[in-house]
Amino acid sequence: MRTWELSVPLDEASPTPLFVQIARALAEDIRRGRLKPGAPLPGSRALAATLRVHRNTILAAYQELEAQGWISTVPARGTFVSSALPDVELTAPAHSARARSLDFVGFPLESPLESREPEEFPRGALVLVGGTPDVRLLPVEVLARAWRRAFKLGGQRLLDYAGPQGHPRLRTALANMLASVRGLAATPESLLVTRGSQGALYLAARALVRPGERVAVEALGYRPAWEALRSVGAQLVPVPVDGEGIRVDRLEAVGVRQGLRAVYLTPHHQYPTTVTLSPARRLALLAWARAAGVAIIEDDYDHEFHYDGRPVLPLASADRDNVVIYVGTLSKVLAPGLRVGFLFAPLPFIQRAASIRAIVDRQGDLVAEYALAELLEEGELQRHVRKMRGIYLSRRDALVEALRGELPGGLEFSVPAGGMTLWAHCAPGLDAAAWVERAQEAGVWFSHGGQYTFDGQPFPAVRLGFASLKESELREAVRRMARLRPRR
Ligand SMILES: Cc1ncc(COP(=O)(O)O)c(C=O)c1O
Repeated sequence: MRTWELSVPLDEASPTPLFVQIARALAEDIRRGRLKPGAPLPGSRALAATLRVHRNTILAAYQELEAQGWISTVPARGTFVSSALPDVELTAPAHSARARSLDFVGFPLESPLESREPEEFPRGALVLVGGTPDVRLLPVEVLARAWRRAFKLGGQRLLDYAGPQGHPRLRTALANMLASVRGLAATPESLLVTRGSQGALYLAARALVRPGERVAVEALGYRPAWEALRSVGAQLVPVPVDGEGIRVDRLEAVGVRQGLRAVYLTPHHQYPTTVTLSPARRLALLAWARAAGVAIIEDDYDHEFHYDGRPVLPLASADRDNVVIYVGTLSKVLAPGLRVGFLFAPLPFIQRAASIRAIVDRQGDLVAEYALAELLEEGELQRHVRKMRGIYLSRRDALVEALRGELPGGLEFSVPAGGMTLWAHCAPGLDAAAWVERAQEAGVWFSHGGQYTFDGQPFPAVRLGFASLKESELREAVRRMARLRPRR
């Protein structure tokens, strides 16, 4: 071989072993046609000398390529690019612009569903987007011990196929927790462990709604729930919210006019405004749902984080007529990446949702479920929640103080009684969306009201998550926000 040289430089500092780098570079040259089928490859000694690596590295690379079918060795003759390769030139590299377009696909395909917030923020960004817990304060050693014990005590059984409802031990522990803290008459049978609230919302939607049926939602509200409902063909009907939560009178009017299958709402801390549904509206809502035969999907995502007085019990705790489908999650009390949530609902509903779950992803992560059951039984999770509640309360107060000090007159808000976010109305003329955009350039990320409106129209408010940042970080974020506030 005269002129051929590896097209990719080797990187000695890379964690990828050299022989893998060489094999990849050779495969890439074959794929691009720089090395033709049947072409001879240099002997291992010669290539080792050229690349200044040990001969064994070349031998290992050749072995790897031979195992993948790129090259073949003919005894006593040498090593050759395999002559039985597919027409590799036809394959556009996966990263080319063309490969990203829908025309590139050889069958009809629609675009991805509406895009979400970026999952990854720039390094060092101060992120007040979303009401996320501070995962930096997770007791990872305690978690690791629980996972280790799950493997040890649960044994291989936890790695086998199982029923779709979730590990019985976790369902028992959750039922006890829901009974003692949230006043719910939950039993292990009436619970379905899901992949976060999102999994629960999707299963509830699939179990309940037939295409074309109407479901009322809060507007302002939680878009991921809307997407789950829309994905099963629900027609969403927006119902306004005010300082007492969803307007139940408007809901009733919509029900009479349009017929409703269900209503989805966040009564404990309305998303995104954080207000708690008033007692009068709770009673009215339950009575109306019973009379109209409408299901209530209650998303109680951050129940434990209530700072002023006692948390209000869920709607489901007062449900005498089996109309409430209750959705909970461990995303806020522990960590969103665990993806553990649950549904609590009348038994036949749970059975139907479980049968759908068996189709979607069959079962949950039993090792995690077993470990979490132990953390609940031993009170570790409850201890963590108590600790975090105190920390989040101080953070809420630090944010409030910073906003009052740095942005007097810029924002109008009530101090949230619970939750992990603060909702603030912008003074007239302050463009919330423009503010968000400018602040991002200075490394501060938060949300504006238009991200929660049903029709995507601007709304003069901002939502600031305070739980995941230290007090000093919150103060710095607010300082930058104040500096970058767009002026008229
Ligand atoms: C209204 C609402 N429901 C549920 C969740 C939790 O979602 P998941 O349990 O899927 O992580 C969130 C998280 O931000 C939320 O805001």
